[in-house]
Amino acid sequence: MKKLYAVIGDPIGHSMSPAMHNDLFQHYKIDAHYHALHVKSEQLEDAIKGLKAIGISGFNVTIPHKVKIISLLDRVDSLALSIGAVNTVVNEDGQLVGYNTDGSGYLTGIRNELSSLEDKKVLIIGAGGAARAIYFSMADAGIKQIDLTNRTVNKALSLIHDCPYAVQSEALELNETEKQLIEYDIVIQTTSIGMSPERDYIPLSLHNLKTNAFVSDIIYNPLETLFLQNAKEKGASIQNGISMFVHQGALAFQKWTGILPDLDRMKNIVLKQLG
Ligand code: ATR
Repeated sequence: MKKLYAVIGDPIGHSMSPAMHNDLFQHYKIDAHYHALHVKSEQLEDAIKGLKAIGISGFNVTIPHKVKIISLLDRVDSLALSIGAVNTVVNEDGQLVGYNTDGSGYLTGIRNELSSLEDKKVLIIGAGGAARAIYFSMADAGIKQIDLTNRTVNKALSLIHDCPYAVQSEALELNETEKQLIEYDIVIQTTSIGMSPERDYIPLSLHNLKTNAFVSDIIYNPLETLFLQNAKEKGASIQNGISMFVHQGALAFQKWTGILPDLDRMKNIVLKQLG
């Protein structure tokens, strides 16, 4: 019987996950289909019960359900639990088990670009859900120095306080960060600043950026934010948000099927979707 997969969210119409996963199922000759399901917050509990009852094999979870879903699952893995958000659910012998592949997806993507991350000094801009997933995953992976900067510096402080993994971190004001930017080997932009249609904004000036820094932005629309353009002008290597999106999807696909999928193939599908 055809296996069933899905992504649940609200809104869900623009999700690129169905095209990406259905292409992979076809490519690897797996008899399965991946649906986009529009689930409103007030329907989340019923929706999860329904998906379990019909024997769904796995699903992704997106805005606004990543946090609330935790209490509705049978089990949640420890990294996802500490992040406090689940983006991937696997049906393991009838039990719905939650994982977070956002942070680990980001990490896999950056590992493909850079060798020996562990000795690098990292700066994360932002302190929302995405920053939390990336920060905890990097700390869990043994990266020793990760500072956080955010408009609301208290949120960065909370993230540092909540992090269960051994890491050296400071919470910084944005203007303070601009002055000491030269210290960082890796700068990760996780806020929504610069996302289409408001492309003309950057979270902070890159005037003092280290020449050979690695700068990444988790935004993929536009493919090159003004922030990344500025970084490139300063001589940095850059990475856009396609990497995190594709890698989180690849890790989810691997959890569901045991296959680590062709990343270039996934990237091409996403680029085609973006037009
Ligand atoms: P996500 O889950 O995608 O990370 P989020 O939890 O809403 O989204 O977090 C958004 C992040 O973008 C936060 O770090 C937010 O800063 P605040 O904590 O100060 O709100 C940041 N952000 C969004 N719009 C911003 C803006 N106009 N200027 C500065 N920071 C902004």
